[in-house]
Amino acid sequence: MQIIRQKANHLTNAIGIAPEKVLLSYQVQDAIGKWCLASRVELRSDDDERFDTGWLDSRQEGAGWIPAIDPTGWLIPFALKRRMGYHFRVWVKTDHGECDCGEWADFETAKAEGERWVGRWITKPQEIVGHPLFMRRFSVDKPVRAARLYCMGLGLYEAYLNNRKIGDEVLSPGFHTYDAALQYQTWALTPVQGENQLTFLMGEGWYMGKYGLKLDAPRYGNAFGLIAEVRIQYQDGSEEAFGTDEAWQAAESPVLMDSIYDGEHMDARREGLSPTAQAVALSPAPTAPLIPRMSPCLCIQQRLSACPVEGHPRLFDFGQNLAGWVEFDCELPAGAVVRLTFGELLQDGKLYRDNLRRARCEYVYTSDGTRRTVRPHFTYYGFRYIEVEGLSDTPDASQFTACVIFSDMERTGWIKTDHPLLNRLFENQLWSQKSNFLDVPTDCPQRDERMGWTGDIQVFCDTACFNMDCTAFLQKFLFDLSNDQRRLGGCVPMVSPMAGYELRGVSGWGDAATIIPWYTYLHSGDKTVLAQGLPGMMAWVDYISREATAHSSGYLWRGSRQLGDWLALDADSVYGGTDRDFIATVYYYLSACLTAKAAVVLGEDAVADRHTALSEHIREAFIKEYFTKTGRLAVDTQTAYTMVLFLNLTPQNARECCAKRLRQKILAANGKLQTGFLGTVWLLSALCESGSADMAYDLLLNKDYPGWLYEVNCGATTIWERWNSIEPDGSMNRDGMNSLNHYAYGSVAGWMYRYMGGIQPVDGAPGFRRVRIAPIPDRRIGQCDTKLLSPHGLYTVKWAWQNAALLLDIAVPFGCEAHLRMPGLEESLLPGQHHFELNMPVVCRDPDEITCQEAVTHAPTRKMLSAQFPVALRWAERGMYSLGQLLESPFAELTDEDIEAFRAAVTKTIHEPSQE
Ligand code: BGC
Repeated sequence: MQIIRQKANHLTNAIGIAPEKVLLSYQVQDAIGKWCLASRVELRSDDDERFDTGWLDSRQEGAGWIPAIDPTGWLIPFALKRRMGYHFRVWVKTDHGECDCGEWADFETAKAEGERWVGRWITKPQEIVGHPLFMRRFSVDKPVRAARLYCMGLGLYEAYLNNRKIGDEVLSPGFHTYDAALQYQTWALTPVQGENQLTFLMGEGWYMGKYGLKLDAPRYGNAFGLIAEVRIQYQDGSEEAFGTDEAWQAAESPVLMDSIYDGEHMDARREGLSPTAQAVALSPAPTAPLIPRMSPCLCIQQRLSACPVEGHPRLFDFGQNLAGWVEFDCELPAGAVVRLTFGELLQDGKLYRDNLRRARCEYVYTSDGTRRTVRPHFTYYGFRYIEVEGLSDTPDASQFTACVIFSDMERTGWIKTDHPLLNRLFENQLWSQKSNFLDVPTDCPQRDERMGWTGDIQVFCDTACFNMDCTAFLQKFLFDLSNDQRRLGGCVPMVSPMAGYELRGVSGWGDAATIIPWYTYLHSGDKTVLAQGLPGMMAWVDYISREATAHSSGYLWRGSRQLGDWLALDADSVYGGTDRDFIATVYYYLSACLTAKAAVVLGEDAVADRHTALSEHIREAFIKEYFTKTGRLAVDTQTAYTMVLFLNLTPQNARECCAKRLRQKILAANGKLQTGFLGTVWLLSALCESGSADMAYDLLLNKDYPGWLYEVNCGATTIWERWNSIEPDGSMNRDGMNSLNHYAYGSVAGWMYRYMGGIQPVDGAPGFRRVRIAPIPDRRIGQCDTKLLSPHGLYTVKWAWQNAALLLDIAVPFGCEAHLRMPGLEESLLPGQHHFELNMPVVCRDPDEITCQEAVTHAPTRKMLSAQFPVALRWAERGMYSLGQLLESPFAELTDEDIEAFRAAVTKTIHEPSQE
C-alpha cells in the first residue's frame, strides 16, 4: 500500500499559501484491503513543533467505511504559523491489516493576514522612459540556512538573482482582480556568499497593458509598481530582512514593449546593469490588500519542435495549436532585428492572421551580437504556425521550440477508443483546455479577447474537472468572480476578471457562479469550495429574482438582454433560434436548484428551504408558460428539448413527447445538431437520458458539417469556436469572431466520460467516493478505455465488443463503491477489479430513422429495395435524408400497406451483415 498525492490546498509542494486555512488531501494506492479503518495525520513545522491527530477510527456507512481523515480534504483545525515550512504525512490502517504512511510532503505558509511588509511600494522615477527594471545589491557574509522573497508586481515581473531567473513560473503575478486583492508570490532564494544582485524585469501585462473588449478603457492602473521583501535566515540562527525602498535602483529595461495581445519587443543591447540607473521613486500603496497567491503555478508544461512548411522557407509548423511562446537560438550582429509573427492556420500557403483582429501577435528581438536563446517574457500567443523574418534566409526548424504554457494541474482523465477520429477529438478538447487555462479560464488564446468569459467556462467546467485536477485553479477563479460580483451588487459579470469593463452577466454566463462551485465540489469532494461559493450563488439567484420581479411574477426571467444559445445554427444570428427568455428561466431554475443543493451540503437549512421552494415556483411557472396542457413544448428547437429533458423540467405527460420531438428535430436537420454553446453541453446527455443513445452516437460520429468530427476531419488540433470556423472548402469563416481554440464545444468530453466511459459522480458522495457506472457501448467505436484518477484513486472502465458479447473490465479504487447499471445487470461493486461478459441485446432500430445513405450502401437492404420498392430506392438515392422522410414523400409512390411492408423489410435486412 502506498499513500500518495499528499497535497495542501490541492497543490503539491505549495509555497506561500495562506496560513489561516490549510486543507490536506491524500490518496491510497495499491492496497490489498478495501477500506480504511483508521487514519491519522502527523504534521511538523521547520521550528520543530509537532502535531499528531493520533489514530482516528473510520465510520461505517453501508458496505464501506469512511475515514476520519477525509482523503478529499481535511482542514487543519488551527491556524498555522506564518512564513513557516511544514511537513505532513498521512497514515492509514486497512481492513486487511496494512498500516503505512506517505513520505513527508512539504508546504510552506506565506505572511500572515495583515502582516506588515518590510518594504514599500516602489515605482520608476521620471527619468526612466519606457519599461523599468528594478534592482538592488545585497551582500551575504554568513552561511545561509534559507532565504525567501515575497513579492508582488503591478504589471508583470520576472525576478532574477545574480542574473538567474528565480523559479520556473512565467507571467507572474498572473491575471486576477487587482482591484480587490493583490495576490503575491513567495519564492525560495539561494544567495551566494558575498555580493548578490536582485533584479526585477517589469512588464505591463494584465495590470496596466491594453487588452479586453474596450482597448481604450483604463485597466487596473497605469504605473509600474513593485513591493518585495527578502528574508534571510542564517545558520547561526539570526535573521535579516529588507524590502523595496529608496535604496533600490531603476534602469531602462531591455523589454521595450509588451502587450498581452500585441506581443513583445526586446532590445538585448540594453541588457545588463545599465549606467543610467537611477534611484526608484516610492509610490503610495494600492488600496487593495496583499494576499497570498491562490493560483497553481503558471509555467512551461511542454515543448514542441517545429517542422518546415514545404515551399515556404520562413514558415514553421508546430503541428499543434497551442498557447505559449516560441524560443529560438540566434547569433546575429548587434542591431539585427528578428521578427516572429504567429497564427493558427495557413490559407493559400500564407500565414492567416485576420482572425486575430486587433491583436498584433508578434515578437521582435534586436540582437546585441551575442549568441543566445531568446524568448518573450510578458506576453503569450495562441498559434500553430510562425513566420520568421530577419534570422537568415533559410532558418532551420530545429532553431525553434514552442513552449506550451498553462497552469499547473494534474492530469486526471484519459479516454481511448478504437475510433481514431474520436481519439483526436478527445485530444483536441484537452488541448483547448491547456490553451485556455492560463491562470484564468479564457475563451481563446489568440485574438484580442483571451478573457475569463463566464459562459464558456460554465459549459466546459465539468469536462475540465474530468481532464485535470482544477480545484485550486477554479477556486482562484471563483475568488476573482466573487470580487467582481460584489462590485456589481450580486450580478455576475460576463467576463471575470472584469479588468475595468463592467459587462453585466446574462443567463448561462452569470450562472457560472452556481455551476462552477457545484461541479468543482462534485469532482473534488471539497466542501470548502461550496462554502466559498455559496454567498455568490445566493447573490446571483437573488439578482435574477430581482430582474424577474421587475418583468414578471418573479419566477420567469423575461425581458432582459440575453446571449441565448450562443452561436447555434438554427437562426441567422449569433443568439440562435431558441427563445432567449425561455433559456433564461431554465438557467434561473438550475441556479436555484444548485444553490439549494449546496446549502443542504453545508447544513444551511433555511437557505436550502428557501431555494428549494423558489425552484419549485420557477418550475411551476415555467411549465405553465411553455407547455400546452397536452404536453407540447412551445419552443420547438433542439436546444429547448435538450434543456427540458436534461433538467427534467417537463410535466409528467410531456417527457416522452419531448424526447420524440428532439429526435424528430435532429432528423429534420438531416441528422445534424444545430445547437450553440448552451444547447450543446447537454445535448448528448439529454439524448441518452431519454432513450436515444443511438442518436447521441450518430451526432458524435457524424463527420460532416456541422459536427465534432467535421472539425477533426478538417485537421483541427483544438476545438473551434464555431461549427464552421473553417468552411467545407477549406477557407476560413470570414465572420469577425472566429477562433480555432475555444473549448466551449469541447464540453462533449464530459459526456464521453459520463456516458461513453460511463463514470458518473454521485451527489451524495462527492469526489467519486461513490459512483454510478453505466457505460453506453456503441459498436461503431469498437472499444473504449476510460481512466479517471479521482481524488480517491483510479477508476477504470474498459469495454470491448467480442462478437455479440460485451467484455467489461472495471476497477474501483480503495475506499470507494460503484453502482453498476447495464441492460439486464445491476450490481454494487466494491474496491478492486471486476470483469463481466454481457450479452447485449441487439437494438432494434427504427426504420424511419435510418439514413437513406446507409440504406442504399448496405448491400442486403439495397437488394431488397431494388426488388420490392424500386421507385423508393430511386428517391433514396436522390438525397432524401432519412427513410422516414422518404416514406412521407408522395414521390415514393407507396400505399399505407406498402409503407408497413417497407418498414418490416428494412428492420429485417438492416441487421444482416453486409458484404461490401
Ligand atoms: C467570446 C465567447 C463569449 C462570447 C459572448 C465572444 O467574443 O469569445 O466565447 O462567450 O463572446 O458574447
